[in-house]
Formats: sequence, structure tokens, C-alpha cells
Amino acid sequence: MDTAAYARRFLTAELTDIDADITRLIALETERQARQIILIPSESIAPPAVLQALGSVFNNVYAEGYPPTRMMQDDIDRLLEFDHQLAYYRRYGDRRFYKGTTYVHFVEALAQRRCAALFATPEVPAERIHVNVQPLSGAAANLAVYDAFLQPGDTLMGMNLFQGGHLSHGSPFHISGRRYHIVSYGVDPTDERLDYNAVMALALEHRPRMIVAGFTSYPWAPDWKRFREIADACGALLMADIAHPAGLASAGVYPNPVGFADVIVFTTHKTICGPRGAVIMTTDP
Ligand SMILES: Cc1ncc(COP(=O)(O)O)c(C=O)c1O
Repeated sequence: MDTAAYARRFLTAELTDIDADITRLIALETERQARQIILIPSESIAPPAVLQALGSVFNNVYAEGYPPTRMMQDDIDRLLEFDHQLAYYRRYGDRRFYKGTTYVHFVEALAQRRCAALFATPEVPAERIHVNVQPLSGAAANLAVYDAFLQPGDTLMGMNLFQGGHLSHGSPFHISGRRYHIVSYGVDPTDERLDYNAVMALALEHRPRMIVAGFTSYPWAPDWKRFREIADACGALLMADIAHPAGLASAGVYPNPVGFADVIVFTTHKTICGPRGAVIMTTDP
């Protein structure tokens, strides 16, 4: 095949034409997912529309940095006035480390605004919710939050891995457990529920810099107000990790930590049914 023909083929061929093995594996995995129900709570089914958006040309773009401030502050209708936004954009610089991010700005800012709208409450309107949609996973998002607020050796209080917490809440198997001084809370052995008085006593004894509320494996809803009181009593920041119930919280059928937690983190591929990734939100930028 001459170079031109090779380039044409490389740039235009469908997966089925060039890689029979991967095509077959995708078909097999599609069938497996249709046949088997494996009850892993951290997994979900992304609808075809999500997979379609994920397989778009935006895959080709690097976009470290942030969208223009103006775009992050405008409401969704204003944001989507492309001519208006682009007129500003072409006139002023941006906050990216790469060129070619003209339309990525819109996607990122739109995701931020939509997320804020989804979690807004009557007390905390969307304009007050600041959103970062860049983390590649929930554990990475948690580490980013710790890195922003804690120094190595600071005390971090989270739920014990073996009682329902997540690895990234300070387990010794995870970097969070090695980088920070960890104090873990657990459940009351008599009813396997959180004993908020015991969590309060632990927090007052150890005075953590940050408390992580939120769990991987705990079937009861958290009492965010109580966690807020505990954090205030010991002067800690409160981080809510709603990786699992984020979809339920956004739908109003699980307590929403907005208005209680200083920082909220969740993954986008569990009950949100979106792409693999995570979101960090705060009302105090
Ligand atoms: C509470 C909690 N936080 C964080 C994570 C980590 O998310 P990821 O697997 O995307 O890193 C999980 C994963 O299941 C989780 O349950």
C-alpha cells in the first residue's frame, strides 16, 4: 500500500475494517453485559448517547487549564450564545496550556453549569456552586481535594475501609493512608449504624483538619447536618464523598450535601450513568 493509500485508510477506516479482534471483543462484551447481571455497586450502564459523546473528536484535544472565567459564570442560555462568547474569546486570551480548545471551553463550562443546576437547592442556588469536572476518577478527585487543603501529616478522619469507607478515605492500602495521619470512624457494633455521638467524640479528641463523610458500603443515608456540627465543633473542613448516591441525591431521593459540606466529590459513572470520571463541587471557592 503506498503512503497516500495508507494515510487514507488510517484516517477513514472503521474499526471493523482494521481490527477484527477488538471488534469481536466489543461484541462479546456487549453480549456479556446484556446476559449477566453482576451486582458491583460502583458499576453502571452508560446509555448509548453517553458512549456516542465519549467517542467524539473531543478525544483528540488536550485541555489543561480552565475555560474563560466569563464562560464559567454565564448562565447556560448565555453560554450557548456561541457568537457572543466567541467574540470575547477571540479578543482576549484564555487560561489553557494548549491551543485548539475553543469548543472544549463550551463543553467544560456547560458541564459545570449543568452540574451546578442539578445539585442546586432552594437555599443554595446554582450560581453559588463552583464545579470542577476534570478529575479522571473518584479516588483522583479525593486526592486532589486532600492536596488542596491538607499538608502531609495532617489529621484526616474518614470511615474505616472495613466498615464501609473507601480506600481513598485513609486506608493504609492507599496513598491517603500513608500521606496523612488517619483517624477512622466506624459503625456501632450493636446496630451497624453510624453513632454520631461517637464520631463527635473521636473528632473532638483528634481534631482532624478534614472529615470525610460518605461511604462505599453503608446502606443508610448520612445525616449531613450532624456531620456539619461535628466538623464545626472541632474546626474541621467537611468533605462529602457521594460517589455512589450522586444520582439519587441529584434526583432528590437521597440527602443532598450541598449547603452542609465544604467540598463535595462524586463519580460520574455510577448512579449518574455518565462517562468515567468525577466532579468536585464547592460553595466556597
Ligand atoms: C465512596 C467512594 N469514593 C471514591 C471512589 C473511587 O472512585 P473511582 O473508582 O472512580 O476512583 C469510590 C469507588 O467506588 C467510592 O465508593
